[in-house]
Amino acid sequence: MDGIAPHGGQLVNRIATPAERAEFLALSEKLPRVKLDERATSDLIAIAIGGFSPLKGFMEQEDYEKVVDDMRLTNGLPWSIPVTLPVEEEIADSLKEGSWIRLDDSEGKFIGVLELTQKYRYNKAHEAINVYRTDDINHPGVKVLYEQGSIYLAGPVWLLERYPHPSFPKYQIDPVESRKLFQEKGWKTIVGFQTRNPIHRAHEYIQKCALEIVDGLFLHPLVGVTKSDDVPADVRMRCYEIMMDKYFPQDRVILAINPCSMRYAGPREAIFHAIVRKNYGCTHFIVGRDHAGVGDYYGTYDGQKIFAEFEPQELGIVPMMFEHAFYCKRTQQMATTKTSPSTKEERIHLSGTKVREMLRRGELPPPEFSRPEVAAELANAMMHLKE
Ligand code: ADX
Repeated sequence: MDGIAPHGGQLVNRIATPAERAEFLALSEKLPRVKLDERATSDLIAIAIGGFSPLKGFMEQEDYEKVVDDMRLTNGLPWSIPVTLPVEEEIADSLKEGSWIRLDDSEGKFIGVLELTQKYRYNKAHEAINVYRTDDINHPGVKVLYEQGSIYLAGPVWLLERYPHPSFPKYQIDPVESRKLFQEKGWKTIVGFQTRNPIHRAHEYIQKCALEIVDGLFLHPLVGVTKSDDVPADVRMRCYEIMMDKYFPQDRVILAINPCSMRYAGPREAIFHAIVRKNYGCTHFIVGRDHAGVGDYYGTYDGQKIFAEFEPQELGIVPMMFEHAFYCKRTQQMATTKTSPSTKEERIHLSGTKVREMLRRGELPPPEFSRPEVAAELANAMMHLKE
């Protein structure tokens, strides 16, 4: 395979072949069933398409514990977020280790198969403290953890079929395809950008700073589960399209969706996000202020500092770190403290949260905050959401 090696050396493919699919379909009425929620469904997809390489399924206990305690898989590879399938105890009791389980989505549609190699109990408080650095139930990731079932099911999975995304089929570019695209474009260095927000001026600034250095930008918004007050994915996608049309050099940027769900695990998720983008073929990854953070749970640069806990070659993707970017009134441009002589009063600090607050109050974010067409799209969407 050309381009940067996937994590662990090989891109995983767990999409059932036609023969496997026929076999699974023939068995489907006989197999015990487990219903996946939206997050587990997005994890199944990410595993199947190789986004979570080298994982081939939901983590067994040894890997899980090593990840929670040491941020590594048992084979020593860095891995910072548990990828697990929680179920209630009664469901786990009805399933036998060694059997095949039919996986249904939340609407009861047969979407995958799990070869159940293990079921195990785990310590929620321990996972919360280690992964999220807090056991506060108000943290959205911790809340999910505390509300989920107390037994993890583990083992390799197959995705029955890779369907086009129901809302954004044009932007569904899986790791095999993104790697091919980068090669076709002749890009040697590609920077991945994770986001769960509409692109504001600070995002655009750090993306373009990175684009001055590398060959291409992989604009890779997450469209799996986000918390309810985040801007919905369809609205965000329209905003990204505006940016692509009007503000980016189209031959140097690829917009694609990332099917994963947010954990809001801050620093640990920054590592995870980087590894996933490496699997998509990115050589670099942007980490700005409070990456994947929420509330005040993490320090502004914790998401950057955590990269020092690994050897660069074992991560295999280069973090491009940016300070908190703001609009500088003195120099009338986006900047950080590294590039601007401004006083605090001369800086307009922007964040997705601030944009959301303004929109909720019915105010249009100013151009120092957001490109006007994006602001108009968001205001319009907000009005419809209120209706
Ligand atoms: S995230 O949860 O996906 O990380 P968000 O969409 O806000 O949230 O951020 C996307 C990326 O942009 C992250 O790497 C984040 O650190 C960075 N970022 C967001 N706002 C700023 C800012 N004002 N200055 C520098 N980096 C920023």
